[in-house]
Amino acid sequence: MTQVTLPPLAMNGKDPSNLRGDTIGAERYFDKDFAQREWDHMWTRVWHIAGRENQLEEAGDFVVHDFMHESVIVVRQEDGSLKGFYNSCAHRGIRLASGASSVPSFTCPYHGWVWNIDGSLDDAPDAFNFPKGNPCGKIKLKTVRVDTWGGFVWYTMSEDAPALLDFLDPLPKLMQGYPLETLVRVCQLRIDLRTNWKFAPDNFSESYHVQTAHPQIPEFIDQDVDVSRLEMYPNGHGRTIQPFRPSLTRRKPGDATPMFDALLEQWDIDPESYPDFESKVKQGWLDLKAAKHRLGPERGFAHYAGMSDEQITDSIHTTIFPNISITFNPDSIFLMRTEPHPTDPESCSFDFWAMEFPVEGAEFAQTAMVGNERLPLAEAELDYRQFDGGKGIAELDGGVIMQDLMLAEDVQRGMRSRGFAEPYFANSETRVRYFHEVLNDYLEGRR
Ligand code: FES
Repeated sequence: MTQVTLPPLAMNGKDPSNLRGDTIGAERYFDKDFAQREWDHMWTRVWHIAGRENQLEEAGDFVVHDFMHESVIVVRQEDGSLKGFYNSCAHRGIRLASGASSVPSFTCPYHGWVWNIDGSLDDAPDAFNFPKGNPCGKIKLKTVRVDTWGGFVWYTMSEDAPALLDFLDPLPKLMQGYPLETLVRVCQLRIDLRTNWKFAPDNFSESYHVQTAHPQIPEFIDQDVDVSRLEMYPNGHGRTIQPFRPSLTRRKPGDATPMFDALLEQWDIDPESYPDFESKVKQGWLDLKAAKHRLGPERGFAHYAGMSDEQITDSIHTTIFPNISITFNPDSIFLMRTEPHPTDPESCSFDFWAMEFPVEGAEFAQTAMVGNERLPLAEAELDYRQFDGGKGIAELDGGVIMQDLMLAEDVQRGMRSRGFAEPYFANSETRVRYFHEVLNDYLEGRR
């Protein structure tokens, strides 16, 4: 096995000797009891993303995050802090809010109780008419823990879960070169899919499928198994690091590299200056690092200032246990998240957020594209879609997300076959197995 240098705490995600060897049975993708155990022992104990900090700039700004049968409100306070509450009126339980907006207080749509943004009760009609006395000053909304990292607003329903930065460890340290709080979310899609939520962490924990499912990728990302660095972390997170350069083994006819040539030229490097394909790919990639560091800030790419050599030229595909994947690129990130359907383990929602580091003077996103469309460099509204065999996201046709989602529902159907028992994993799928072992740890009380 190729020796790799890994950051502290990382285990080699190509080495199955890092695993216990749990059996990964197919029933976990459709069994209702398994889904209930996930809710009881895992979903209520991990951290979830409610939204972006830039949605909560003024006191009273709030976002609602619906998760399975639960719903949480996070709201900016007068003192600048954030508070989170279960989205359930303490009178008779109705949901108080939806979406994202700004309010001076939350007025319940049922009987008109008025809740302050700090969760205390300000007013109740006929307050004298309660046998236990006036509820104002007595009753509060039930809180959840809230914290922030990377410009994202997180919450957990658990009082005992580790602090957010401990839960995410060591990702915040590894990713500190990216100014994540400056990101602009230029696309925000939520797509209903007929597959179990674990399709996404499975799919995004390996790149073995890329050569078959995404034949366009080897032209611009070198995903060769010996080049990729696969990392697994004790908390269940993982990373796959691959250079933005053509594959050395899956070459185009004539060794053509039009996308890489354009990238080199963007940074004043002559693609014709290299004697052969291999030196262009290897030396050109090193020359790009130097050119981007040297020229980036004066060309408005202020976000390069803190980036490492690796961050400035590589794709760092990161999974955050259990259900969030973020591809960190030099100029943008793509966040993908699945969340289970409240009652049907064979359905989920798939979130796709394209987020761009703003470049000075740019009106459109440079790299965070949807299909072939250039997106304005501005915050996008949430857009709900039904997948409908791909027809619901037709503008993504031919792209990586569409290719993955076209597989998702067929994987679910195949998993239910009497002809399928359990997967037969490659070494390069070790991270998939590790994800399931960490999930098993939660369900069996080891975490
Ligand atoms: Fe909210 Fe009655 S349920 S005031």
